[in-house]
Amino acid sequence: MKNVLFIVGSMRERSFNRQLAKVAEGMIADKCNVKYLDYSDLPYMNQDLEMPVQASVARVREEVKNADALWIFTPEYNFSYPGVLKNLLDWLSRPMDMSDFQNPSAALGKKVALSGAGGKNMTQSCRAKLTELLDIMKMNVMHEPQTGIALGVEAWTKGEFAISDEQRAELQRQADAFVAFIQ
Ligand SMILES: Cc1cc2nc3c(=O)[nH]c(=O)nc-3n(C[C@H](O)[C@H](O)[C@H](O)COP(=O)(O)O)c2cc1C
Repeated sequence: MKNVLFIVGSMRERSFNRQLAKVAEGMIADKCNVKYLDYSDLPYMNQDLEMPVQASVARVREEVKNADALWIFTPEYNFSYPGVLKNLLDWLSRPMDMSDFQNPSAALGKKVALSGAGGKNMTQSCRAKLTELLDIMKMNVMHEPQTGIALGVEAWTKGEFAISDEQRAELQRQADAFVAFIQ
């Protein structure tokens, strides 16, 4: 079974994107080993902290390197990706061995899928900008299909995550395509 690392672009305890990830996990759990990346202890990118490599940075890079593929579930902040996710990706973009910039990063060539739950824009702008960034990092992005969820009224009023049959079907299509993509 392939090892898949889920990355949630929200630190929020009851994150709708984490809940969306849980639904996706259920769709692939019989075909892949799923783990969630905890990157809440990463420092803000600061080149003074790059050498020696900090334990949290080394751990996160190791988990990404050892995964066969990544699946990112992220909210959209101001029509872009959240700062915490950009910070993680900045750390992942640097060479594992900083003695030579020709050395590979943990993210190089890594297969990655994108989904997001947010407002009416369905995280479309976030996913477009994220795709551009991941392409720059020379990751192997599954450009299509992606899943974009417009959260329902009960999410905004009661904090409850609900997924419609149509949204579930869209996620299922992406899950099936993702499993085929990473073989
Ligand atoms: C700083 C900030 C900016 C936001 N900007 C957008 C936006 O541009 N588009 C959007 O759909 N939702 C936007 N939202 C709302 C988020 O989509 C919403 O809070 C979502 O539930 C966050 O995902 P999470 O539940 O996984 O934390 C914004 C929220 C914050 C905190």
